[in-house]
Amino acid sequence: MIKRIAVLTTGGDAPGMNAAIRAVVRTAVNAKLEVMGVFHGYWGLINEELKLFDHRSVSGIIDLGGTILKTMRCPQFHTEEGMNRAEETIKKNSIDGLIVIGGNGSFRGLHEFYKRYNVPCMGIPASIDNDINGIDTTIGWDTAINTALYAIDNIRDTATSMERIFVVEVMGRESGFIALEVALAGGCEDAIIPERKYSLEDMCHDIVNGNLRGKISWIIVVAEGAAAAPDIAKKINEMTGLDTRAVVLGHIQRGGRPTAFSRTLALTLGQAAVESLLKGQTDKAVALNSNKLITIDLEIATRRKEIDTDNLYKLIRILT
Ligand code: F6P
Repeated sequence: MIKRIAVLTTGGDAPGMNAAIRAVVRTAVNAKLEVMGVFHGYWGLINEELKLFDHRSVSGIIDLGGTILKTMRCPQFHTEEGMNRAEETIKKNSIDGLIVIGGNGSFRGLHEFYKRYNVPCMGIPASIDNDINGIDTTIGWDTAINTALYAIDNIRDTATSMERIFVVEVMGRESGFIALEVALAGGCEDAIIPERKYSLEDMCHDIVNGNLRGKISWIIVVAEGAAAAPDIAKKINEMTGLDTRAVVLGHIQRGGRPTAFSRTLALTLGQAAVESLLKGQTDKAVALNSNKLITIDLEIATRRKEIDTDNLYKLIRILT
């Protein structure tokens, strides 16, 4: 019987995490559960940094980026000692269920924790990277690609006016989901992602040929996990002799007001996570796939998510 749950955010923050916290807390209160907010992610579980929340604790946060619960990466949670201490906090505070809002690293930790201690748990997928297997869209992804797109649209103006080549680096340590999406939506000419081999020689050949045909500006999007924009820009300049600039968008992609889509997804998944726990589901993540609410085993969610490089990349190149 679940009487008290705890909620935390962990890993990289994503816009919409606050909306998810709001939905978890208010759904729980509405169901007559007690709910505790854990601060600083898994670190807060290890160090007993938590407090009882009520309906009002989550007022005025629906439109805020970041997370009011704070977040951090916590290697200590992946150690035996860290997990033991986290479990002691759970027992000591009579917590019957744990909701973790985070990305695939956070889910890996949660799955290990569940296997060890059987604490009922649900994951809510939130990451700007959209790299959680079996899940169409993570909370924050839509906001992040729109932020990156806004920057790329601005860069296009100067690229066209000054007839330059730009190499724009976006986030995505191990995946090219952000890069491909913004390259397509931004009408960019090429994309370099970790999942796909690329040839700078071929790219430069295309640039020079395009230049001969009168195509005078070019934007290439690079996922940070594939290459560093300044290195690529330097090489393009050396190989083509054309004026090339590098822009690293960095953490601006992680912040800002969540879009309507990121908020509604977060609110829907927050409610679903609490209700799934109450129905006895555990060791799973909630997802909204093809407009249907589903749950998916954490073991599956933590596998590598494949990217549809062929179709998306092909389209980017066709439309150049
Ligand atoms: O949260 C995902 C992410 O933004 C990745 O795209 C990026 O590689 C990483 O986090 C950066 O992490 P940190 O802010 O800890 O350096």
